[in-house]
Amino acid sequence: IGRHVHYYESVESTQLIAHKVAREEAPEGTLVIAGEQTGGKGRMARPWHSSKQQGIWMSLIIRPKLPPEKAPQFTLITAIACARAIEEVTGLETNIKWPNDILYKGKKLTGILTELQGEADKVNFLVIGIGMNVNQKKEDFPEHVKEIASSLEIEAGHKVSKIEMIQKILKYFEKYYELYMEKGFAPLKILWESYAAGIGKPIIARTITGEISGIALGISNEGILKVEDDEGTIHHIYSADIEFPT
Ligand code: BTN
Repeated sequence: IGRHVHYYESVESTQLIAHKVAREEAPEGTLVIAGEQTGGKGRMARPWHSSKQQGIWMSLIIRPKLPPEKAPQFTLITAIACARAIEEVTGLETNIKWPNDILYKGKKLTGILTELQGEADKVNFLVIGIGMNVNQKKEDFPEHVKEIASSLEIEAGHKVSKIEMIQKILKYFEKYYELYMEKGFAPLKILWESYAAGIGKPIIARTITGEISGIALGISNEGILKVEDDEGTIHHIYSADIEFPT
C-alpha cells in the first residue's frame, strides 16, 4: 500500500484521478494525493472543502477479489485505520459515526468516500477517498462548516505532521486490510464498535426513502447499520445520514 504515489499540487478531485489511473491498470495500493482540491467530493454528492495544503486529501486504489456488496465494509476498515492513526500521532481519542465520519467532541475531523468500479459479481477496483482536516485554524473553515468541523491542529493544540499522519494511516490500513482478507470482517466489526459513537442510544437515520428513528443496535456482519424502532422492528440501513437527538 502506498508504493506507487501520484502527487499533484492542485486537482479537481483525487477521486476522479484515481478512477482514471485505476482504469489504466494502476496496481493495487496506488495512492493519489493532492495539496489542494478545487472540486472535492463528499458523500451524497456534497462538496468537500479541501483548502490548500492544510489537510490530507488522498485516494487509495485497491483491488480486492470480492463481490461488490463487500465494498461498504472498506469504509469502516478505513475509518478504524484513520482513528488509530490519529490516536497514535496526536493522542486524540476519536469516535466513528456510521458509516464514515471521524468525530472529536462531536466535530468532524475526517470523512471517507468509497467508490466501486465493478461488475455484478466482482469488484474491479475500489477507490477509497480520505479527507482529513489537519492544520486548519478555525478561521480557515467556511462559515457553514465551522460549527460542524474541526482539525487536528485545533484539537491537539499544535501543528501535526501530514507526512507522519499519512504513513500511519497507510500502516494501519494495510494491517486491517490483511486481517480482513485473512479472517473476514468479524474481528474488524469488534474493533469498529469500540470506536463507534452512539451504540445503544436513540438515533435518527435519514435515508432516501424516509426517516427511521429508534435505538442504534450496532452494525451487522456486513457492516450495515441496525436500528430497532419503537415497535421492535429491526431495520437494516445501507445508506443514510444519521443524527443522535439530544
Ligand atoms: C464525506 O465525509 O462525505 C466524505 C469526504 C471525502 C473527501 C475525500 S478528500 C480526498 C478524496 N477526493 C475527493 O474528492 N473526496 C475524497
